[in-house]
Amino acid sequence: MKKLDGKLKYNIAVFISGRGSNLKSIIRYSLKQKTSYKIKIVISNNPKAKGLLIAKKEKIKNYYINFTKSKKLGKKVLNILKKNNIKLVCLAGFMKILPKYFIKLYEGKIINIHPSLLPKYKGLNTHKRVIENNEKYTGCTIHHVNRYLDSGKIIFQKKVKITKKDNKKSIEKKVLKIEHEIYPKTIDKLLSNL
Ligand code: GRF
Repeated sequence: MKKLDGKLKYNIAVFISGRGSNLKSIIRYSLKQKTSYKIKIVISNNPKAKGLLIAKKEKIKNYYINFTKSKKLGKKVLNILKKNNIKLVCLAGFMKILPKYFIKLYEGKIINIHPSLLPKYKGLNTHKRVIENNEKYTGCTIHHVNRYLDSGKIIFQKKVKITKKDNKKSIEKKVLKIEHEIYPKTIDKLLSNL
């Protein structure tokens, strides 16, 4: 734990692959004095991820790691997490499946945000499938990460209504809005309860 602004804060890591809008919302929230955490590192498996630029701009240590099945690389990540005293790993648009041994070693300390009301619509293209199935509601889910895709224990969910006017783009916008709202708060809640 690190003492910041007279308050004790836990270090977290955010793993990304792309745009980084969730990363941005977590940064914003974490800068508020009342939060229980600080983003210590950002790791991307994509060297071109826009989120890396956000991290750089905010002077957050950031790494590009070419995740493969190689245990050597996994060990490299684990060392970075250990060295930085990371209490929680938050996946935010991280498009790579983490190696099983990695999940096992960090069990209970990795969470993810998924743009659907899990257990419905695991995997990709959630909004497209939601529309095809004429769903009345969709939303987002924050869950623990286990070895199965989008299947870990659910921590928090929020719903949004789908109207007749909605399309894939408008649904994505609505869902992202609530993602940005609930992810930073849920991380705070999890860490405040430690
Ligand atoms: C979000 O919709 C998140 O739920 C999903 O990937 C998207 C990432 O967006 N896992 P961003 O990179 O945070 O903007």
